[in-house]
Amino acid sequence: MKRLLLMSVVCSALMGCKTVPPPKPLTQLTPQEHAGYVAYQQNCAQCHYDRDTGSLHGPSLLGVYKKPYLQSGAPANDERITWTIQHGRGMMPPLGGQVSPDDIASILAYLKTL
Ligand code: HEC
Repeated sequence: MKRLLLMSVVCSALMGCKTVPPPKPLTQLTPQEHAGYVAYQQNCAQCHYDRDTGSLHGPSLLGVYKKPYLQSGAPANDERITWTIQHGRGMMPPLGGQVSPDDIASILAYLKTL
C-alpha cells in the first residue's frame, strides 16, 4: 500500500507520465472558455495541437497548465504565457498586434481546460 503511493508520487513527478487528467469536453466549456477555443483556432491551432500530443510547428499545448514548466523551462503560468503570445519566442512570431488582451484572457482560460 505504502509502496503504491510512493510509486504514484514518483510517477506524477516525471514528465510524460500519463497521470494528467484528460481535457474538459468541448461541450462543457464556459462561455469564456469557448471564446478562448474559438480564438485559439484562429491564432494558435495552425502551429500547436491543443487536444493531441506531439509537435506541429510548436509544442503541443495539451495539459500545458497541468505541468509545472513550459518546453523552454519557464514556469507555466498566466504571466509567462501572456508574454509569449505578445512577444513571441524563437520561431513563434509575436502576436500582440493581432490578439487582443480580451482574447488572450479567453485563450488562457481555454488552455486551462486542456
Ligand atoms: C506560426 C506558428 C505559431 C503560432 C501561430 C503560435 N505559436 Fe506558440 N510556439 C511556436 C513555436 C515554433 C514555439 C517554440 C518556440 C521556441 O521555444 O523556440 C512556440 C512556443 C509556445 C509556447 C511555449 C513557450 C515556452 O516558453 O516554452 C507557448 C505557451 C505557446 N507557444 C503558446 C501559443 C499560443 C497560446 C498561441 C496562440 C495565441 C501560439 N503559441 C501561436 C509557434 C507558434
